[in-house]
Amino acid sequence: MENLNRLSGKVVIVTGAARGLGRDYARYFAMDGAHVVVADVKDTAGASSEASAIGPKSIGLECDVTSQASVDAVVAATVKEFGRLDILINNAGLWRGLAESGLLECPDDVWDIAWAVNVTGTLRATRAAVPAMKANSWGRVINVSSMAAKSGGNSYGLTKSTVEHMTRGMAREVGDFGITVNCIAPGISAFEAAGTQLANADQITGSNPIKRFGTSREQYEAMAYFCSDGGAYTTGQTLYVDGGATS
Ligand SMILES: NC(=O)c1ccc[n+]([C@@H]2O[C@H](COP(=O)([O-])OP(=O)(O)OC[C@H]3O[C@@H](n4cnc5c(N)ncnc54)[C@H](O)[C@@H]3O)[C@@H](O)[C@H]2O)c1
Repeated sequence: MENLNRLSGKVVIVTGAARGLGRDYARYFAMDGAHVVVADVKDTAGASSEASAIGPKSIGLECDVTSQASVDAVVAATVKEFGRLDILINNAGLWRGLAESGLLECPDDVWDIAWAVNVTGTLRATRAAVPAMKANSWGRVINVSSMAAKSGGNSYGLTKSTVEHMTRGMAREVGDFGITVNCIAPGISAFEAAGTQLANADQITGSNPIKRFGTSREQYEAMAYFCSDGGAYTTGQTLYVDGGATS
């Protein structure tokens, strides 16, 4: 992996980075010279040592984004370890089984956990991170939506369209402090979980203008723009990185 070092010296928390897209993002941030905090309910050791092997020191911290105490503790431990927090990636999210259960048929427990992780988790992690970013008058919060936000008819899409709404609101609340809040909305993106679990994957990619899955790197490059100094005047935005699927 090349060393781009566009984010040298920055400290980033990536939630839900033990596996999947978040684990890839952790490696790309390390490639860009950032210290990465892998924050997840699952074992973070594999992902954090991968990131450390690529870039500067990274650590893994147990984190449940549905708990304010948990995300507060992760931010405190990050600042203790690295002295600062610059970037928060609100990647932790639940999607398996959610689209299929629609709205009216969605079981209450599935509905509740989807909102708790995808929406409330994003809010709580951002609440925890903003004071540390304010301390340096610089910060970048990047939320993660989905192209499903535009399709509407299921609990997953509803949580993600709410994340986009929150992105606009949060951006207004923190712009004065040198903090931007943006969002990426991935299309179906290539890594093991998405590729193997979608029975209709060919049908989905076949209808895209760019007829293939996206890659985690392509999602990351959108985030790298939001994190750059050149991206300082861009806030409250959601960038669809979906091969044009929703265009
Ligand atoms: N995979 C795709 O094609 C795709 C497309 C669009 C959007 N997304 C979004 O991208 C994000 C990552 O998706 P993925 O496919 O890598 O998912 P994934 O299920 O592979 O990984 C999600 C990670 O989040 C963690 N997590 C779950 N609940 C948590 C909690 N309460 N606190 C902290 N961590 C928690 C899990 O342990 C897991 O490591 C999600 O927000 C998802 O909605 C994914």
